Amino acid sequence: MSPAKSTEEALADCCRKYVNTGRNPPDGMHGRFQSRYPRDPAAKKEKNMACNLLKGKKGLIFGALNEHSIAWKVAERAVAEGAEIVLTNTPVSIRMGEINELAEKCHTIVVPADATSVEDLENLIDKTMEHFGGKFDFILHSIGMSLNVRKGRTYDDLDYDYLARTLDISAISFHKVIQVARKKDALNEWGSIVALSYIAAHRTLYGYNDMADAKALLESIARSFGYIYGREKHIRINTVSQSPTPTTAGNGVMGMSDLMDFANRMSPLGNANAEECADYVLMLFSDYTRKVTMQNLYHDGGFSSMGMSRRAMSTYEKGMAFNDVKEHQYPFGEGKE
Ligand SMILES: NC(=O)c1ccc[n+]([C@@H]2O[C@H](COP(=O)([O-])OP(=O)(O)OC[C@H]3O[C@@H](n4cnc5c(N)ncnc54)[C@H](O)[C@@H]3O)[C@@H](O)[C@H]2O)c1
Repeated sequence: MSPAKSTEEALADCCRKYVNTGRNPPDGMHGRFQSRYPRDPAAKKEKNMACNLLKGKKGLIFGALNEHSIAWKVAERAVAEGAEIVLTNTPVSIRMGEINELAEKCHTIVVPADATSVEDLENLIDKTMEHFGGKFDFILHSIGMSLNVRKGRTYDDLDYDYLARTLDISAISFHKVIQVARKKDALNEWGSIVALSYIAAHRTLYGYNDMADAKALLESIARSFGYIYGREKHIRINTVSQSPTPTTAGNGVMGMSDLMDFANRMSPLGNANAEECADYVLMLFSDYTRKVTMQNLYHDGGFSSMGMSRRAMSTYEKGMAFNDVKEHQYPFGEGKE
């Protein structure tokens, strides 16, 4: 039998359960955890606000493992907005995850493919075109995995075979997907390709390990291929740099819970959850962003522009001799955190 959880751990679990659902934790919850995952007015918004943003569009979605996956939310929202989709993941993830449930909900098929295998990708693109009866309009690359992270190897003690796998799975697969799609002329003119990135590509966040290098490469591929595909076919390629999000991949990052807390305190709008990320990605698939390409677009509640926030500072003040700042001193006062 596993040891009983402390009250703090139980509350943290409970909060984590709520944070990615768009719902708010119950009122009676411990203050510390309410501030960790604060009430979000946007969470109250009408969920059924679909307006056929993607009506008539068809797309291929990589990376839906379970209902927490960012790709899962993108798939659900894309279909709600009128798109037709095809889903794909590795054979193991299809077996271990819940993607077949999602396919049923979205009235579509799942085509197995390891995104590091060009042969698998060629078969995937053929099957996808067969399913749609021709070309399609968008691709989501929502793939990430590091064996160094999984096996607890720190950045100053990397296993280089694992590093090669990290780069192949999390970044070079993006190149392979685009190259195969282009060679097969699979995408309609003015199509859109999006991959998911993280700010560790630009700033050092220790626990992110070799995934930071993979994300830097991923963003570079978006720029390099964005030029070629844009000039040729008006196809745009962007990366979305998302807040830390409690998914299977996200929870593998060392100190994820503290990282989420820190990012949440630093971001004026708070962390963006998976559903909000999906909304942003849909906008990039839509015709409203036809001239946006080769960009890394932050979807992080403002985190990437911050240096230090009052909310984060107040946490550190408690443990620091911080005599220079009085409680109500401008710009830290005003009674707001
Ligand atoms: N969760 C976060 O905090 C966060 C923040 C910023 C960016 N991202 C990025 O978002 C993307 C999606 O991750 P998520 O957070 O939804 O986690 P997730 O674990 O739900 O998704 C990761 C997916 O990658 C797939 N995958 C792994 N190896 C693959 C391979 N060889 N071929 C094909 N698919 C493979 C997995 O099966 C899984 O479906 C990743 O690129 C991740 O780095 C996540």
